[in-house]
Amino acid sequence: MNNNYIIRQETANDYRETEALAREAFWNLNVPGCHEHYFVHILRDHEDFIPQLDYVLEADGRIIGSIMYTKAKLVDEKGEEKDILTMGPICIHPEHQRKGYGKLLLEYTFEKAAEMGYDTVVNFGNPDNYVARGYKSCKKYNVCFEGDVFPAALLVKELRQGALDGRKWFYHPSDSEALCDDTEAVERFDALFPKKEKAWRPSQEEFYIHSHSVISR
Ligand SMILES: CC(C)(COP(=O)(O)OP(=O)(O)OC[C@H]1O[C@@H](n2cnc3c(N)ncnc32)[C@H](O)[C@@H]1OP(=O)(O)O)[C@@H](O)C(=O)NCCC(=O)NCCS
Repeated sequence: MNNNYIIRQETANDYRETEALAREAFWNLNVPGCHEHYFVHILRDHEDFIPQLDYVLEADGRIIGSIMYTKAKLVDEKGEEKDILTMGPICIHPEHQRKGYGKLLLEYTFEKAAEMGYDTVVNFGNPDNYVARGYKSCKKYNVCFEGDVFPAALLVKELRQGALDGRKWFYHPSDSEALCDDTEAVERFDALFPKKEKAWRPSQEEFYIHSHSVISR
């Protein structure tokens, strides 16, 4: 790892560079092409976006990492609500992946989030990327979707041990990601960047398996 890096909040001057980074990191990863650069672009204007937790990692004057969080809720069976965070997107430039930068961004922002009073982070993702950061299966914390659905890729991180006390919690994420269902808007935004070929990659099958799997017992 290059030690000549800083972690700092994103500024408006960084926006296009961060979006280009997200495009590089997610391109052909989960589907042919990607929508995450558009997601980053519109998320900043969404009411659930948390600007105080919008960080970039800069090395040698280039942004090589980005992390964002949105407001979400857990609701128990009596209707009691708990304000939590959804982490994502997070990305590291492909040339710099698997060198520990993602770990740095997560751990740095977990501390910032805890200072803000948050004690729980939830996100979807490949467990390989998160279990070493202390994330556990949603099933272990009894966090599910309405209908008692426990997705295999729904991962929960306690920022304070015991924050989740074993009662059943229903996860209510922000509706922000639904904005990416507008595929024409994604394509129009993507056309602002240099052309990239969409292609099949084995990681797309891995994504399909993770995102369609549910823990049953
Ligand atoms: C996922 C991502 C953010 C991780 O950042 P990174 O800098 O590459 O990861 P790190 O080097 O910090 O490693 C993080 C953890 O990943 C795991 N990991 C590292 N190398 C791995 C490998 N080759 N295979 C599987 N897991 C691996 C380890 O658990 C590691 O933690 P540890 O070293 O403390 O045990 C980055 O790879 C990325 O941007 N990927 C493309 C976009 C993406 O998938 N974003 C997440 C969407 S859910």
